[in-house]
Amino acid sequence: MAARPFRCGGLWLFLFSSVAVALIYDPQQVLYNVNTNQTATDPLDYWGIWENHTFNPSPSNWRMPMYTLMLDRFANGDPTNDDANGTQYEHDLTQTQLRHGGDISGLQDSLDYLQGMGIKALYIAGSPHINQPWESDGYSPLDLTLLDHHFGTIQQWQDAIAEIHSRGMYVVMDNTMSTMGDLIGFQGYLNTSTPFNRFEHNALWKTDRRYLDFDFGNNELDSCEYPRFYGDDGNQVLNLTSELVGCRDSEFDQYGEIAAFGNYPEWQRQISKFAFVQDRLREWRPDVRAKIEHFACMTLGMLDLDGYRMDKGLMLTLDAVGNWSSSIRTCAKTLGKENFYISGEIVAGNAFGSDYIGRGRTPANYVENVTQAVTMTNASENDKYFIRDVGQNAFDGAAFHYTVYRFLSRLLGYVVDPSFHT
Ligand SMILES: *[C@@H]1O[C@H](CO)[C@@H](O)[C@H](O)[C@H]1NC(C)=O
Ligand SMILES: *[C@@H]1O[C@H](CO)[C@@H](O)[C@H](O)[C@H]1NC(C)=O
Ligand SMILES: *[C@@H]1O[C@H](CO)[C@@H](O)[C@H](O)[C@H]1NC(C)=O
Ligand SMILES: *[C@@H]1O[C@H](CO)[C@@H](O)[C@H](O)[C@H]1NC(C)=O
Ligand SMILES: *[C@@H]1O[C@H](CO)[C@@H](O)[C@H](O)[C@H]1NC(C)=O
Ligand SMILES: *[C@@H]1O[C@H](CO)[C@@H](O)[C@H](O)[C@H]1NC(C)=O
Ligand SMILES: *[C@@H]1O[C@H](CO)[C@@H](O)[C@H](O)[C@H]1NC(C)=O
Ligand SMILES: *[C@@H]1O[C@H](CO)[C@@H](O)[C@H](O)[C@H]1NC(C)=O
Repeated sequence: MAARPFRCGGLWLFLFSSVAVALIYDPQQVLYNVNTNQTATDPLDYWGIWENHTFNPSPSNWRMPMYTLMLDRFANGDPTNDDANGTQYEHDLTQTQLRHGGDISGLQDSLDYLQGMGIKALYIAGSPHINQPWESDGYSPLDLTLLDHHFGTIQQWQDAIAEIHSRGMYVVMDNTMSTMGDLIGFQGYLNTSTPFNRFEHNALWKTDRRYLDFDFGNNELDSCEYPRFYGDDGNQVLNLTSELVGCRDSEFDQYGEIAAFGNYPEWQRQISKFAFVQDRLREWRPDVRAKIEHFACMTLGMLDLDGYRMDKGLMLTLDAVGNWSSSIRTCAKTLGKENFYISGEIVAGNAFGSDYIGRGRTPANYVENVTQAVTMTNASENDKYFIRDVGQNAFDGAAFHYTVYRFLSRLLGYVVDPSFHT
């Protein structure tokens, strides 16, 4: 799910140039806003929780049959929300790009079918948060506290999830962490792709639509604390200290854009706008991460989620993922979820992927002695074998791992171009 079709050109943005969606409490959005704090104006004061509800405890072991589905393409349980935005450009069953009308009520109606197959966990692909009217996949959220009207109200989500849980099944929901929609452009490059620039570009809003909880900034800071970066070979990239010094005082990365496919150094991929259409929050900045974590915790608590699957996992800076996961597991524990599951999309080979699994391991952490390797526990000489401390576990597992994907493609007789690398 790393790649998404490039279907939002300038024409679309022109057509939908005015939007007033409030993240702060707004009576008009009360059915969809996971923030129910009527007085909060600071995003960190937003709050919402499924009230008077007994939260579903985690399973002790997540090895179970899991079913993946795209909500919009699955089953239409509530036709009244198909044109929730009231435009000509959202619901059309006859083509592949617009919405087909699937929603959370349709999923609820289908639970006999899914449970009958022996499915124990549902991974609902795409974030539940609001996207542009025509964007059915959910991967370009515009607001991390507002649910997309096309998928259902908070009540409908809660009804469906309560029934899923009552059947002994679990719900894992996608999370894009720092990937947002396409509201920000770079000065001088509005009609063309923006090259990578380590000094960053001046950003501007493409239309009068805004992210209400995040802003860019064009002021230059002389020095910035950059995160640790790792390369495709799994090793830390150490020669960037002269490359990356100052930065813009911004909640978004403004270094330019990269294509969805093609070979780029991983660190550039992690701080660029993805596929020219997805703005990237600067999740390595602690104040930005605090908001992302807070919103993910609220969504979890409002919908009683059992796990998150991190989209484009390796395009998130590594230590920020460890921090985020640690924070979300703590949040889940306050709801009695002791084994909240966090998987990530591993769009790379095994070496780089290993940095993100658990506490992370580079090639230098390789265990030569097989007996020691298979008898290793979490108490084994920690620093020697892992790159992050206890508790800073990033992903528990992979969902989708491209090594598996490439292997399956070959098995099915399809030769993948070696340059295919998202
Ligand atoms: C539909 O979306 C447009 C822009 O995305 C927004 O201005 C408008 O308020 C929305 N209308 C409804 C009914 O949600
Ligand atoms: C709601 O917002 C107010 C600030 O207006 C804050 O003092 C309060 O702690 C918030 N409530 C919750 C439950 O976070
Ligand atoms: C939760 O329960 C309390 C006490 O019974 C009640 O006042 C409140 O309205 C309930 N909240 C919801 C959302 O049902
Ligand atoms: C982009 O290109 C269009 C069509 O060539 C032109 O009308 C418009 O002024 C250009 N916009 C910018 C910001 O360069
Ligand atoms: C860092 O090292 C890599 C691999 O040797 C090289 O490709 C890259 O150009 C170097 N970058 C800088 C900024 O020196
Ligand atoms: C974030 O991650 C880094 C690297 O693992 C760690 O040193 C730091 O303590 C973490 N910060 C928080 C707030 O968890
Ligand atoms: C491998 O580790 C085991 C257990 O620590 C040890 O008994 C054995 O001698 C080691 N083998 C080698 C070749 O070092
Ligand atoms: C190792 O795992 C056990 C069992 O899950 C846990 O109780 C213990 O705290 C862990 N120790 C460390 C150092 O992570």
